[in-house]
Amino acid sequence: MTELENWNVYNPSGKHRVLVTKELPGNEWLSILMAADYRIEVCTSKEILSKERLIERIGNNCKAVIGQLTEKWDAELFEVLRKAGGLTYCNYAVGYDNVDVMSATQNYISIGNTPGVLTETTAEMAVALTMACSRKIVEADGFTRRGNFEGWLPSLFLGKRLWRSTVGIIGAGRIGSAYALMMIKAFQMNLIYFDNQRNIKLEKEIEAYNEYLEKTGCLPVTVNNVHSVDEVLTKADVVSLHIPLTKETHHLISQKELLTMKTDAVLINTSRGPIIAETALAQHCKTHPDFTAGLDVFEQEPVVHADLKQLPNITITPHIASATSWTRENMAKLAALNIKGVIEDYPAWDQGQIEPFLKPVPPKAIPSIINQSVLTAK
Ligand code: DGY
Repeated sequence: MTELENWNVYNPSGKHRVLVTKELPGNEWLSILMAADYRIEVCTSKEILSKERLIERIGNNCKAVIGQLTEKWDAELFEVLRKAGGLTYCNYAVGYDNVDVMSATQNYISIGNTPGVLTETTAEMAVALTMACSRKIVEADGFTRRGNFEGWLPSLFLGKRLWRSTVGIIGAGRIGSAYALMMIKAFQMNLIYFDNQRNIKLEKEIEAYNEYLEKTGCLPVTVNNVHSVDEVLTKADVVSLHIPLTKETHHLISQKELLTMKTDAVLINTSRGPIIAETALAQHCKTHPDFTAGLDVFEQEPVVHADLKQLPNITITPHIASATSWTRENMAKLAALNIKGVIEDYPAWDQGQIEPFLKPVPPKAIPSIINQSVLTAK
């Protein structure tokens, strides 16, 4: 085996071989796997591992892998993993568009992910990007650092007022609704949302917030569940995307959709890059200087479209929406518990909330498996 990357090996004589394709934050995840007496091999290289490198590393004996969203886990990899005695793969992420779940299922490999611990963290980042865009914070920071601030001026960096305007979300799942509630409670914004399913829990929370607003003599906010993405785009002042990447959502936002939005709208993407057609967005931002976009994800990560980097009305960050220590450590813990749960034949967790797994003594269950049918088919 050519050793281009380095691997740390923990508990070398452990009874099952587990690969972890990147170093993970915290220690708890490692303690869980060591206490289960697994041999853990962790890749310490920052490089994205190619399929060939992964195949080589899996070899002919590997029980489980904790992998990354930067790796394409396809049919060939799952076949190799199954032949090596593999039972399970966990994506160190909540999203799993990089994983061919159907092929994994055909190979009897269960697929785990790490939901629940990214929700507020990712929503907070979407709020941060919204503020950065609406108040031109990054541009103004650069201006000030370059020594261009020569005194207060009536028209210096005029931004967009959010207070009591309309926030739109496309996708009202966990992260989308956490973001919506943050924006509503911070800026008393009205909500317009599109999702394949009405989110009654979210609407109830807004109802409760309205009771509070009324008690304090404020006008209630409105909530509008609409039946098309276009309706959100036309009516909202801020639009934030919170949907998974699928064939249907690829380039959901392109030139036509951008043109239906308000000319000074704010567009936020913390979900997956290919949901927005970047060339169309760059063109739109060139011709609409009051339009702003905050992007944490990109079409061809880690490559960022050259035009996006040039435009002052676009704020970009390197896919860090879930990057807080608490979240990343707990993602690692959930990943470890997912693979341990499958190897030790625990039942899948059927009680919704993931919080019990964050306690020092987690339940004897598998926190989050996407293709549960594999567990019963074994
Ligand atoms: C996820 O978990 O899907 C995120 O994109 C990682 O931050």
